[in-house]
This record gives sequence, C-alpha cells and structure tokens, in this order.
Amino acid sequence: MWWLLRWLLIAPILPFIGRKRSPFRLVGGGFFRDAARVPAPDDNFWMQLALEEARKGVGRTAPNPPVGAVIVKNGHCLGGGWHRAAGEPHAECEALADAVKHHGAEVVRGATAYITLEPCCTQGRTPPCTEALAAAGIVRVVYACVDRHPLHAGRADALLQAAGIEVTSGVCADAAAVLLRPFFNACETGLPWLIWKSAMSLDGRITRPPGEGQWLTGEPARTDVQHLRASVDAILTSGETVRRDHPALTLRLPGLLEGRSQPWRVVVTNHPATLPQDAPLFTDAWRERTLIRPGHDLTNVLRALVREQGVLSVLVEAGGKLSAALFEAGLVDEVIVYLAPLLCGGTVPALAAMHLPTSLELTDLSVTPLGADLRLCGLVRK
Ligand SMILES: NC(=O)c1ccc[n+]([C@@H]2O[C@H](COP(=O)([O-])OP(=O)(O)OC[C@H]3O[C@@H](n4cnc5c(N)ncnc54)[C@H](OP(=O)(O)O)[C@@H]3O)[C@@H](O)[C@H]2O)c1
Repeated sequence: MWWLLRWLLIAPILPFIGRKRSPFRLVGGGFFRDAARVPAPDDNFWMQLALEEARKGVGRTAPNPPVGAVIVKNGHCLGGGWHRAAGEPHAECEALADAVKHHGAEVVRGATAYITLEPCCTQGRTPPCTEALAAAGIVRVVYACVDRHPLHAGRADALLQAAGIEVTSGVCADAAAVLLRPFFNACETGLPWLIWKSAMSLDGRITRPPGEGQWLTGEPARTDVQHLRASVDAILTSGETVRRDHPALTLRLPGLLEGRSQPWRVVVTNHPATLPQDAPLFTDAWRERTLIRPGHDLTNVLRALVREQGVLSVLVEAGGKLSAALFEAGLVDEVIVYLAPLLCGGTVPALAAMHLPTSLELTDLSVTPLGADLRLCGLVRK
C-alpha cells in the first residue's frame, strides 16, 4: 500500500521534474533542440544566442565592435563564436570554425549564419567575412544591425546576394545596437561613448566626513563598478582626484583580466608636475597604461583617445569639477549613479558649479538595488 500512496503523491509532478533545464542541449559545439518538447525556434531566438556570444567581447575588442554569431541548420545550432580582439578572426569566422570543428565542413554547407552586425566586405587585418560565408556554403545570412563604418555600411547585402545567399537584416536590431553604440558613436562623431559614473550620498556629496574612510557604497556596488570598468576601454580621472585619493583604477576581480589588458587610465590635469609620483597609476605593473592629458580642450582629449589609442568607450571616475566640465561640453552619453543611504554634507558635490542653459534629461532609466545602495542608470537625451 505504501508504494501506491507514494506513487499517487509523486505522479502529478513527474512531468515537471527535470524541466528547469533548457530544452536546448549543448552537443559538440552547438545547441540541439529537443523537437518533441518545444516549437521550432525563429530568427529572434537564434539572434538572442548570437547576442549572448557578442556580450562576451564587450570591453575587449576596440577599436573593433563586440560581435557574436551562431551557425544554424535544420533547427540545430552547429556552432557559435565571438570576436575576441582586434586582429583576431571576426565573429562569423569564429562561429564557422567552431561549427566545422564539431560537425565537419559538409554539414555546415547549407546552414544559416546569425550575426549581430552586418558582415564586413573588405580586407582589413582579416579577410572579408562575406567571402568566408560564401566559401563555407552558407545559404542564408541573418544580421541585426547595418554597419555604420563608412567602408562597410550597407555593402554586404549585394555581395552576399550575388553569391546566391539570402539576406535578412534588422533582427533584434535594438538589442544589438546597445552593444554597438560605442562603435557607432565613434564612427559617426569621432568621439568615444562617455559614461559618467559617480558614487554619492543622498545629498549629492561624493566624499565622507574626515576619518570615515574613502568608500560611500558597500561591497555589491563596488563589485558592480569592477564589471563596469571591464566593459570600457579607458577610465578618465582628474589630477585632483589622483592627488587626493591615489586611486588604482584597475580590474581586480579574478577572471576580469583574463585575455585582456587593463583599460587605459587617463589623468586630465593642467598641473602635471604636482601629481604624486608614488601613486599606483605611475608605479604599478600597469603604469604603461596610464596617460596624462591637458584639460583645456576636453573634446580634443577624447577625440585623440579614439584616434591614437583606438578607444571606443570611456568611464569617468572624477570629482565634481571635471565632471561638470564634461557635462557642460555636452560630452556625456550615459549616467550611472551609485546612491548610498548616507547624508555626508561637506564641500565636494557630485557636480560642482555646473552651468547649463537647460536641465539635462535622462531616458531609458533603470534602478537596481545593490545591497544597501541603489544603482541608477540612464542615457542623456541629446
Ligand atoms: N564618489 C565618487 O564617485 C568619486 C569619484 C572620483 C573622485 N571623488 C572625489 O572627488 C574629490 C575631488 O573632486 P573635485 O571636484 O575637487 O575635483 P575633480 O573634479 O576630481 O578634479 C578637478 C581637477 O580636474 C582637472 N581638470 C583638468 N581639466 C579640467 C577642466 N576642463 N575642468 C575642470 N577640471 C579640470 C584639474 O586638475 P589639476 O588641478 O591637476 O590641473 C582640476 O583641478 C576627491 O576628494 C575624490 O575623493 C569621488
């Protein structure tokens, strides 16, 4: 009787046991769909996988954009890949190589390639991807965003179609454009995507009263800043902040530095001779990644970072005076504020004496609790 009772209790939940796992199993280099359990995935589904690949490259690929790709045939993902660094193969070539490695070149013929950016069509540091796709026997290319690099923009479709390949564009374009905006911004304006980050108290102050230590926010917010630093190519600070805080401005969390360099550290100062020579920026193992730049023309400083270092994204970690100057010059694209549940008072505001003709408005707002702190993100409406 006992076994019967036990069976009656367990039977209703049996269909759900094990269903927490994705219905897509990773086999070899790709995901295999359990056709009996889920409907056939569409272009959006596969592009989401390509976007996951692209996210792995954020902060690592400058001056190139982070791009991801997957190769799909008969409802099966044969392989995926992402662009790892400038000079390394592009995402679609990584994905093709992954698919061929696990399934062989013959199986890849006749497949569809999903790519988060229009494939390139010129010989750069690597051969044109349009040719690699045709040579691999790809019969359909689906991409998210049209490239905005003048050499490539909108040219892939005709080349692919001439090779007998069907082309669909614009799939998940908004999500892909978020990852690509530093690249697009640099292509269109010559300026990097500028993120202003500040940790502040509820009264908008960025330092604590004397004797209380340096940090306003707790461990979860500071961990979040580590990931934010890992997503950019350079961190911009001021001579004054270096003199007062001796910041290191490095990636310190295990794993974040794997396969990449520290972001550039750019000190903007009009008094370089008074910078503390024993500060970590000038003495640590990454001192060759520190640049000192004059502050009288901030637009020019940022343009030169794009031109000379290939920087696409910059995180500002400075006090209120330099921050205000960057806002006044219209250079800030994105705002990320870590708000600590403190009232600190004092003389150092997050934005000191900012003079604007009209207030700046933020769009695309998000608010995320991080321990006792809040993270507020938004884009500056331009
Ligand atoms: N809570 C946070 O997130 C956070 C982040 C960073 C800093 N801080 C705090 O901020 C405090 C410093 O703030 P602050 O407002 O006094 O200074 P600041 O804004 O960090 O720096 C002002 C300095 O920036 C340099 N600069 C170069 N070009 C400039 C320009 N066009 N306009 C304005 N400044 C320019 C000058 O350095 P030179 O004098 O060298 O020429 C100037 O003295 C520090 O105590 C630090 O702890 C807080």
